[in-house]
Amino acid sequence: MAHQSDLIAADIEAYLKSHETKSLLRFLTCGSVDDGKSTLIGRLLYDSKMIFEDQLAALEADSRRVGTQGGEIDFALLVDGLAAEREQGITIDVAYRFFSTDRRKFIVADTPGHEQYTRNMVTGASTADAAVILIDARRGVLTQTRRHAYLVHLLGIRHVMLAVNKMDLVDWSQAVFDDITADFTTFAGKIGLSDFTAIPMSALRGDNVAERGSAPDWHDGPTLLSWLEAAPVGDDSVARPFRMPVQWVNRPNLDFRGFSGLVAAGSVRPGDQIRVSPSGRVSRVRQVLVGTGEMPEALAGQSVTLTLEDEIDISRGDVLATSDAPVSVADQFEATVVWMDESPMLPGRPYLLKLGTRTVAASITEPKHRVNVNTLEHLATKILNLNEIGVCNISTDMPVAFEPYAESRDLGGFILIDRMSNRTVGAGMIHFALRRSQNVHWQALDVDRAARATLKGHRGRVIWFTGLSGSGKSTIANMVEKKLHAMGRHTYLLDGDNVRHGLNRDLGFTDEDRVENIRRVAEVAKLMADAGLIVLVSFISPFRAERALARSLMPEGDFVEVFVDTPLAVAEARDVKGLYAKARAGELKNFTGIDSPYEAPESSEIRIDTTALSAEAAAEFVTAWMEGELDYTI
Ligand code: ADX
Repeated sequence: MAHQSDLIAADIEAYLKSHETKSLLRFLTCGSVDDGKSTLIGRLLYDSKMIFEDQLAALEADSRRVGTQGGEIDFALLVDGLAAEREQGITIDVAYRFFSTDRRKFIVADTPGHEQYTRNMVTGASTADAAVILIDARRGVLTQTRRHAYLVHLLGIRHVMLAVNKMDLVDWSQAVFDDITADFTTFAGKIGLSDFTAIPMSALRGDNVAERGSAPDWHDGPTLLSWLEAAPVGDDSVARPFRMPVQWVNRPNLDFRGFSGLVAAGSVRPGDQIRVSPSGRVSRVRQVLVGTGEMPEALAGQSVTLTLEDEIDISRGDVLATSDAPVSVADQFEATVVWMDESPMLPGRPYLLKLGTRTVAASITEPKHRVNVNTLEHLATKILNLNEIGVCNISTDMPVAFEPYAESRDLGGFILIDRMSNRTVGAGMIHFALRRSQNVHWQALDVDRAARATLKGHRGRVIWFTGLSGSGKSTIANMVEKKLHAMGRHTYLLDGDNVRHGLNRDLGFTDEDRVENIRRVAEVAKLMADAGLIVLVSFISPFRAERALARSLMPEGDFVEVFVDTPLAVAEARDVKGLYAKARAGELKNFTGIDSPYEAPESSEIRIDTTALSAEAAAEFVTAWMEGELDYTI
């Protein structure tokens, strides 16, 4: 590297040593498109001389060829390495870059400012100590600026720099700078971000970035680089009580059982008493192993393997904590959720929640409110769309160990994953556990599923018919029920149209209402099956996620999905209830198959092609399949 090659050449040991002892600051840059972020980062790399000589030569050549600076060095080219970025002139993914000065090492997360890229911002912010929020002096505080400030604060970043860039384009007007700072101060005050530093700068010219340059002297604060060099690296984590989420159970042979993970907070020594959450079991640390060697102590930030004095049951995702200050355990929380996916967050839909090293199934209630990041108003909403931030209750299907986000980013921050696509769709920060979850206990009942089944002569189960409106679900289900009934089976038919007259009369046909419709009927079907009935469910149930939820409530093998496969054209031609005609005429909104989706099953137990089979034949087939495939003995 240009400036350091001399030292590297002269004394590589000294170079490496100086690197090792320097502190590391992780920060993120955020700004709106065109605020000059890439130029700023390029400038930092250039001024800290973290560029290889060949990169410098290429940069000069590229700047002449495709640069936007009239042949002068275009620092953005250094950062916007991707061809797509160059073409569109925007940054499209989180990029982590490393540079160092004599005083400190830095990792900068360059997060795009495009409206739909909140996800990247959240990703970049999750480990950052400091944030640089860029503002174009000509444009002032924008919606994006507010969103970024809000997120930065929400994600617990304590050191915030407001970089008022492109000051050269407003003739270094102090009035412009003061106005912007005042504007930002008002907003920052409202979100509780009390402490930030504002610097007027020109990333392009390098003024107030690493050097004062030609910045006027009405501003006597630090340069960006000196601020970054001085920002405290917020590591109070060592001083906090010991916490370690178990990453994996290390069992190379029968004589050794170690628990490996990253120490998230505090320190641990042999002899320390620890408590395992959620199980609550207690033991003492026998050995602290780092790499293959035994150590007297391990600190926050180190990856370790611990062995314990007792043989207790611990698995991946459990949290080891000091026994006198254990972590909390709950299965219901209040949390702030940031939605990061094109398809909205639907209350009641099952998602996966990953917290620390544990992944559990979770669902989210209707948001208490969402936040308008401009006005900070709390707005009523039923769902969260892309980039929206709301406060919701979350319930997990098993208790998890956690801490409030304000106390621990590691054990209070989580991500939400779509079960079907495996995409990360949201991120959240736990406020607190809901007390009601601690006060509602599962009641053990003496008459159980098996006892009820014995009395009935068969087990309960669910036969779930799904398909378009008018596909023939209800007709077939009705016939199947008659047949089963005639054979002495105890049955009940839950039909969409009927249930929507009673239990679900408050629900319409929006996506979120359909999710709730199916969630409720799945729970009812489960109870009825538990009571010993063969439950036939006939609902359009258009979404895979909720059908999967219904399946997950039942024991393996006791949920039979029947896809009544009738092409849209055929169902529409039949139009028994005249609803397709209405939908086509625009008199009925959100009609399945017309302007609301139907996600066909990929692996149902039974698929019925109604264009090839009469309803009677289909019912015969389902009944025979049930009798033939399923074990009716108890
Ligand atoms: S689901 O999508 O939420 O599973 P459900 O099976 O309960 O739907 O109800 C579907 C029935 O409601 C249809 O058979 C039809 O009679 C009636 N219906 C009224 N409006 C709509 C609509 N917009 N989309 C689908 N079905 C509708």
